[in-house]
Amino acid sequence: MRKFGKAGKAAAIAAIAALALTACGRSDSGSSGSSSGAAGFAQNSEIGVALPQKTSENWVLAEGLFNDGLKGAGFTADVQFANGGVSEQQNQISAMVTKGAKVIIVGAIDGSQLGTQLAQAKQAGATVIAYDRLLLNTPNVDYYVAYDNFKVGVLQGQALLDGMKAKKATGPYNVELFAGSPDDANAKVFFNGAMSVLQPKIDDGTLNVVSGQKSFDQAVTQGWKAENAQKRMDTLLASSYNAKTLDGVLSPNDTLARAIITSVKSAGKPIPVVTGQDSEVESVKSIMAGEQYSTINKDTRNLVNKAIDMVKKLQAGQTPDVNDDKSYNNGTKVVPAFLLPPVIVTKANAKDAYANDPTLSKLTQ
Ligand code: BGC
Repeated sequence: MRKFGKAGKAAAIAAIAALALTACGRSDSGSSGSSSGAAGFAQNSEIGVALPQKTSENWVLAEGLFNDGLKGAGFTADVQFANGGVSEQQNQISAMVTKGAKVIIVGAIDGSQLGTQLAQAKQAGATVIAYDRLLLNTPNVDYYVAYDNFKVGVLQGQALLDGMKAKKATGPYNVELFAGSPDDANAKVFFNGAMSVLQPKIDDGTLNVVSGQKSFDQAVTQGWKAENAQKRMDTLLASSYNAKTLDGVLSPNDTLARAIITSVKSAGKPIPVVTGQDSEVESVKSIMAGEQYSTINKDTRNLVNKAIDMVKKLQAGQTPDVNDDKSYNNGTKVVPAFLLPPVIVTKANAKDAYANDPTLSKLTQ
């Protein structure tokens, strides 16, 4: 797990300020009138943060950053993981409402299963912020803060093409597609972003998905679990790659990328180009060692700071900044969002990309 010293945090705050300036270029004025016009609340109020399971390093980092950041700003922080699953997360959010939380920040396990608890939260006057993952089919979500998920997928799709081209100048290339967990609203957005780049290349014959498994439903990895991705890769290799070379694999995140690479290695096959996401320590090491091809930098410090920034605005009775008021329709409403820009990282730009990350910069020397 990454730890950040004071200098790192100061750098992150400076980076956020810079980000806010650029990311708000489109306009800061998109705040939706339908969002809760909070009248402000006491500085030491309870702020609930409901996190999902620890399916990737970013969630573990978020826990510490929310605790430190909220307490540092004078709030009373209640940060919970729901390792037991959806019903545990439902209970945690209800408990936050009962304790009188003024803002509830939710990283949902399943964004469509919290409708009752979010309605309770709104009835009690709390503001609800969806964190990283959108909350679906409910009017009771006020803001969304996340990295641009569609862009993440676009960057992954492009990296897959670039990586394969660098190894072998022309196609056709044999590839397989993996997606995240279907209960996480992000998983389909990542996949759609990647397919916006890859589908035209499948259609024109540059890419050959040898297994034929091209749809999201066929590509999903339940629970974002490494063992599920590894098992599926084992099966795909055995059924489709006895006589063929696998050139590339679209992997939606680093945990799954490493599982895919483990499967390929244990089948005694050459490692294909494998994408990822999250800049997890073990994947950055793998990239520097020339195994995993790419990851995405979505600095958790910036995302947590942005969420806390929203809380501070609400506390002061102001409207939080948003920079996108059209992209995230949750099935009931368009949720005003603040989207941060993801960055693609390969061995070629890792040193620059992690220059202000005290942990990851050490791995790129
Ligand atoms: C996050 C990813 C993460 C995945 C699994 C997604 O919702 O956006 O960063 O890899 O969950 O934890």
